[in-house]
This record gives sequence, structure tokens and C-alpha cells, in this order.
Amino acid sequence: MSTLPDTQYDPIEALDVRGDFPALAQTVNGHPLTFLDSAASAQQPAAVIDAVRRYQENDHANVHRGVHTLSHRATEAYEGARDRVRSFVNAASRSEIVLTKGTTEAVNLVAQSFVRPRIGSGEKIVISHMEHHANIVPWQILCEQTGAELVVAPIDERGKLRLDALYSLLDESVRILGITHVSNALGTINPIAEITAEARARGIPVLVDGAQGVPHSPVDVQALGCDFYAFSAHKMFGPTGTGVLYGREALLEAMPPYQGGGDMILEVRFDGTIYNELPYKFEAGTPNIAGVVGLGAAIEYLEGIGMDRVNAHEQLLLADMMERLGKIDGLRLIGTAEYKASVQSFVVDGIHPHDLGTLLDQQGVAVRTGHHCAMPVMQFFDVPGTARASLALYNTADDVERLIAALERAIRMFR
Ligand code: ALA
Repeated sequence: MSTLPDTQYDPIEALDVRGDFPALAQTVNGHPLTFLDSAASAQQPAAVIDAVRRYQENDHANVHRGVHTLSHRATEAYEGARDRVRSFVNAASRSEIVLTKGTTEAVNLVAQSFVRPRIGSGEKIVISHMEHHANIVPWQILCEQTGAELVVAPIDERGKLRLDALYSLLDESVRILGITHVSNALGTINPIAEITAEARARGIPVLVDGAQGVPHSPVDVQALGCDFYAFSAHKMFGPTGTGVLYGREALLEAMPPYQGGGDMILEVRFDGTIYNELPYKFEAGTPNIAGVVGLGAAIEYLEGIGMDRVNAHEQLLLADMMERLGKIDGLRLIGTAEYKASVQSFVVDGIHPHDLGTLLDQQGVAVRTGHHCAMPVMQFFDVPGTARASLALYNTADDVERLIAALERAIRMFR
């Protein structure tokens, strides 16, 4: 996989799959919905909605626990989705695919089960300045628990990671590097394969927050060379409340469980418990079976289109959107790194981002406003928040057109 895509795409790559997404057919405030908030949560295609409904109507039962037909069907659907995830990200084995509540739980799992037993007072955790709170706060909690130190690699004024500065922080006291694949606030794509090579050459394991990576381009965890890769179903056109932690088998094998309960055990006695094999050791309790079925259907849908096409389509739209936003008088783009995916944050002179978001919503245009769960990014750019338009495979040139027209109208109303 190329984490830094070629930006010269052929327009014939343009996709038109809007009709696959029922939610996009509605009008909002009297206007056709222009949905530009997929970085927060993406819409689901009918294929996902139908797969979940079929499961709920016909196959629902608990997994791994029943001899009856419905339990077998539910287990097959759940484990089939795990197999799809494995092949989608090219993990070496299905044991390496832990199904979680989402990216946030996956990062917390790594912090508590992998890093906590291996870190002591004064030792370090390195992250970057562009991380989502989900890749900051679990490490702060771990620092409070252990006396470890959180060290932050800087970004530059375009929102690009300063790689030399990052590498200079990677010394023998570092126990983990946690880094985002794609910044949710800035859209910056980090060169993960290069970063993991540098870190692992120094014996430092790497966790990648892939929540904004997986929906936008092909991901091959073996090619990336990371130790852990976390992502969420709802950013990739699946349901909320489910996600994935990929981890190298040898590391997962050596880690203690994150939570205790049913399904993560082989035998329980009052004098001790034998834990289940991978990946079940990390899946305590009844999982979000319907959510995982939806995740499997989302992957099937994406594979039917092809992630290279998704990436090519979005790169075209992003380039167009950035260029046109950049021409609006008084609008400042936040996040202009050379390699970006799907997201453009911006602020407009004299208009609070929330007011801008409301004025856009009145015209049927959904963008996210605020700090995007990345407050340190806002502090770096010295803004209270931004408006953020984020693209997905179902957006079209018309959506960009409507965003620009709605913004121009909103700005005129304010001036
Ligand atoms: N992480 C989500 C976002 O970027 C909520 O909006």
C-alpha cells in the first residue's frame, strides 16, 4: 500500500455511488442533503443496513455458546466478518484481529495490556501533536498510573509531522509510539511505513490510530510494519459501537487480558482461570454481533468498489475542494500538508465556526464544527475550533459546489 498516494488521478475514476446510501436521498431544511461530516461518522449503504436487518430478523442468537442453529448462524456471521477484516487489512492471521467497541477501546486495550506491564516511572510514551483525544488521553491515564512521561512530537504550520523531531525523540527510554495514520482535524497523511521502520529499528513498538486511514485508501498492516492498528466500523460505512484492533500475534499472545468475563476463558475455577486463545482472550462478554455483521457487510461493499478507486475519487474531490475554499476571501485553510486525505478544516474571519456550521446546515450542508476531539491541534493553530468538511466515497463534485455556494451565502449574511 502506498500511504502517500499519487495525486495525479484520472477523472474517469470518479465514482457515483450516492444512490447506494438511503440517508443521502433526503432533504434537510428544504435542501438536498450535502453530507460533509463523514470523518465524524459515515453514512451506511443499503447493503450494510440490509445485512444487519437480515441478521436481526433471522439469525440473531449469542455467539460461541449454543449448539442450536441460530447460534451457529450468528457465530458464522460474526467469525466470517473477522475473516473479512483480516483479509481487508492483510493481517497474517485471524488471531490478530480483535473485535472491539471501536478505535478508542482498542487504544485503551494496548495502553493497559501491552504498555502498562512494560513501562516504569520516567520511561516514555511518544505521540504526535495531531492526535485525536483517543490517542492522547489513554496515555495520560497510563502516565498517571505508572509515573511514565508523555512526549509529543511537533507539527509544522501546514499541519505536517516534523519527522526529524519525531525521530530525535525515539530513544531507548521510549516504550511505545502512538501515531495517527490520517489526522481527523487536518487530513494529514503520515508516512506510517517509514515511521514504523525508524521506530522498530530502535526497538520501539508502534500503535497506529487508523480510524481515518481505513475508510479512504487500501491498508496493508504487514506492509506498514506496525505492531498495532486500530480502527472503527462507523467511519467506514458500518455501524457504531464496533471496531478492530489488529495486533501482531506474538505481542497479543504475551499480553494479559484487558477485561475479564464470559467468552475470554477456557476454564474458570475459584483457584484460578485459564484464558481463552487469541483473539477471544480480548473479547470478554457478549460482543456487538449485529455491529460486526454490519462491519463485514461494509467491507464487502468497499471491496466491491475497490479501495484504490475510493482513494482516487476522494483525492480528486479534495484537491477541488481545497482549491475552491482557498479562493474564498477571508477564509483560512487549516491543514495544508502535501499529502492529505478527505478532510479540510477552515476558519472564516469574524464568524465563529459554530455560527458558520449553523448557517450551512440551514442550506442542507452538514459539516462538523468545533475542536474535532483534537484540542491540541486547535491550540497549535490558536483557534477555538474550525469548520471541517470531510469527504467520503459517496460525495460528488456537486457536493463541493453546494458547499462553496452555501459558504459564500453564509459569509455575505455576516458582512
Ligand atoms: N473523531 C470524530 C471526528 O473526527 C468524532 O469528528
